[in-house]
Amino acid sequence: MIGTGYVGLVSGACFADLGNNVWCVDKDKKKIDSLNRKKIPIFEPGLEEIVSKNYSAGRLKFTSDLNLAVKNSDIVFICVGTPTSKNKASADLQYVFKAAKEIGKSINKFKIVVTKSTVPVTTGDKIEKIILKKKSKKFFEIVSNPEFLREGEAIRDFRFPDRIVIGSNNNKVVKKLQSLYEPLIKKGAKFFATNRRGAELIKYASNAFLATKISYINELANLCEKTGVNIEDVSLGVGMDQRIGSRFLRPGPAYGGSCFPKDTKAITVTADLYKTNLSIIKSVIKSNEKRKLLLTKRIKKILSNKIKGKKIAFLGVTFKANTDDMRQSTSLTMIPFLNKMGAKIYYYDPSGKKNVFSKLKNVFYCKNIQETCSGVDLVIIHTEWEEFKALDFKKLSKKKKFKIYDMRNLYAPGFLKKLGFSYFSIGR
Ligand SMILES: NC(=O)c1ccc[n+]([C@@H]2O[C@H](COP(=O)([O-])OP(=O)(O)OC[C@H]3O[C@@H](n4cnc5c(N)ncnc54)[C@H](O)[C@@H]3O)[C@@H](O)[C@H]2O)c1
Repeated sequence: MIGTGYVGLVSGACFADLGNNVWCVDKDKKKIDSLNRKKIPIFEPGLEEIVSKNYSAGRLKFTSDLNLAVKNSDIVFICVGTPTSKNKASADLQYVFKAAKEIGKSINKFKIVVTKSTVPVTTGDKIEKIILKKKSKKFFEIVSNPEFLREGEAIRDFRFPDRIVIGSNNNKVVKKLQSLYEPLIKKGAKFFATNRRGAELIKYASNAFLATKISYINELANLCEKTGVNIEDVSLGVGMDQRIGSRFLRPGPAYGGSCFPKDTKAITVTADLYKTNLSIIKSVIKSNEKRKLLLTKRIKKILSNKIKGKKIAFLGVTFKANTDDMRQSTSLTMIPFLNKMGAKIYYYDPSGKKNVFSKLKNVFYCKNIQETCSGVDLVIIHTEWEEFKALDFKKLSKKKKFKIYDMRNLYAPGFLKKLGFSYFSIGR
């Protein structure tokens, strides 16, 4: 596995757990050192046990030596990041191409080189060209195997994926990968083989569709707020239609994370290159950007437009629960904005303190929920962590009765109002 981040580490550990010998490579030596001390650099439920078990069994190894790892492997997975390019909306492929170059240099016998990183359609062709500069075609085959796991549920998603997509025109190689995934296929995962470009596009098409679903329900929630309809009822009523499905129909803050924001942008750039206007996805991107502003405006309104001097508590700051990933979280826009307007921010997140807020004056990390909410004017439930789902607000507000803005609709609308709280939620 080249790249030992959320995808590389989880996939590497899980492949090892299936009985394979796995080398996880990362250029970040600190990460490798900590993994070799059995310290997991990310928050992912269940991962520590699997890493520890397979490391001790000698099936899982961590190294910064890509050459050593490639030489000792039959299949090489590229799992490096593909963030949004600086100043552009396209995917930055520098890490993928650099990894490809290094792999090319290290190939000593036939290898299957698989891109697990999310890469724009035709990237496999480019990787092939890079490796061809070092090795002839008989030494390697480039395959696309997009990853669909979700942070926070990554282990389960690896073990019980809805589908495994392999993109290759080489049947022998498809069979080899099918046998690697056989234990998961046996448990019910669908195996779908297509050509390489098809697999690359399937990943972006999936993420863009899910982002669309979120933005769709978020916009409907805005209409519900104006018409006195409960968005939860609309989600249920719509989701019961099997053609639509109930998942990803929960309203909340703007979608964030390491994938949807960058992948929606990247696919529209790719389409533009091919003179195809993906107007629906473009409007989803705009809608999502607007949502951050809209929810921030709502906070201002809840505080009667007086933000200066107010104390605001954030329960959760990550983009979703069960991860420490802050990439593109709405809190990254909201907290600095409110702070700039003169508010004091107190935040708590079960995944710990966040460096991004360390430099902000008057933004404080608190060790627990009680400390976070004590004496504040407003409590914002930003992330749907389990521990925020049954809070004793009466106890928390002993020092001062605060307002509550529940951005995840964790509480029934009448419940906190009955207890005398000013309670606001999304779309109801
Ligand atoms: N995070 C997710 O939930 C998720 C889900 C599905 C797909 N993906 C895709 O998977 C890819 C990886 O995502 P991630 O979240 O795991 O990224 P990440 O940033 O957590 O990890 C990437 C790792 O690759 C390492 N790296 C970069 N260049 C390297 C090189 N040449 N040699 C060795 N190591 C190198 C980095 O140091 C880093 O540790 C991305 O394309 C992403 O879009 C991510």
